[in-house]
Amino acid sequence: MPHTITLIPGDGIGPEVTSAVVRIIEAAGVEAHWETYYAGAQALEKFGETLPAELLDSIKRNKVALKGPITTPIGKGFTSVNVGLRKALDLYANLRPVRALPNVPCRYPELDLVVVRENTEDLYSGIEHVVVPGVVESIKIITEKASTRIAKFAFEYAVREGRKKVSAIHKANIMKLSDGLFLDCFRNIAALHPDIEANDVIVDNACMQLVMRPEQFDIMLLENLYGDIVSDLCAGLVGGLGLVPGANIGELGAVFEAVHGSAPDIAGQGVANPTALLQSGILMLRHLNEREAAERIENAMLKIFVEGKVRTRDIGGTAKTMEFAEAIIHAFE
Ligand code: NAI
Repeated sequence: MPHTITLIPGDGIGPEVTSAVVRIIEAAGVEAHWETYYAGAQALEKFGETLPAELLDSIKRNKVALKGPITTPIGKGFTSVNVGLRKALDLYANLRPVRALPNVPCRYPELDLVVVRENTEDLYSGIEHVVVPGVVESIKIITEKASTRIAKFAFEYAVREGRKKVSAIHKANIMKLSDGLFLDCFRNIAALHPDIEANDVIVDNACMQLVMRPEQFDIMLLENLYGDIVSDLCAGLVGGLGLVPGANIGELGAVFEAVHGSAPDIAGQGVANPTALLQSGILMLRHLNEREAAERIENAMLKIFVEGKVRTRDIGGTAKTMEFAEAIIHAFE
């Protein structure tokens, strides 16, 4: 059965990296029909809204989307399309596998961990107000429902992907009620999975441990704000945001995306590195149970990195986006 996948090319380098990834996925033998939609500034110009209803309907129908980066104006203009998508589709789990690639200089070449971040609440609920001039209150929301479902997601992911340990990262020593609730929910779910090791680490210590001994972590489970920060920290341990994949997953659908931005400084030159979105595409294929194609692409990608001859500019090479994609396709077995 061919898959119907919603495709959001996005802004800047988005269309360049998405077409490279679509080309690789199709060359790997995956039968896919792509429904392409604009979002963000392009959609605003064409349809008068940044997240057109047709796009949301398409994701709800297809339950899966591949998304390029979207420019978010800073300080003014429309609110983030990425946040809008997560809210509209209740994509409550943010998944970021963090693994070094061969021949890419980084601090921890052996690292292989997964960050699971709660995506819908915490300080990101956006409930802020001025109490009196000069005093602002921002409210942190933590619920039993959201904390339980993200803990379930982390343990079920561990079981499915053969991971051994889940670590809850928190600040329950200070935020006894909110982070305390998050931790209680984690412990309740951990008790249902005696085969998976479970521990908890206070977030400041976790950051130090990540820099000094990151191999002690397997799956890290975090609330929204800590997760946002720690997931970028983890990307930095293996070579940066240009390489790691990301996904936002909920009951209504799953959006697989590059975690880097639209890179306006290099857009239109055909030199962007498509690796991050390609790795998200590999995650997407596993999600769609196209495990063979996912493996085929992953093995070819790893081969190209091991050989180290075809590299994009950001990692010290001269290959263009499409040359890199074609090299991967030629490396298929
Ligand atoms: P950025 O990630 O776009 O760029 C930072 C630096 O990394 C730039 O020098 C860029 O050339 C380089 N870079 C990023 N991705 C690359 C790739 N695939 N290949 C080669 N080099 C790459 O971050 P920046 O400049 O802070 O954000 C630009 C725009 O992107 C902003 O409007 C921001 O809101 C948006 N953004 C969107 C995201 C999304 O849609 N998921 C995530 C992060 C930022």
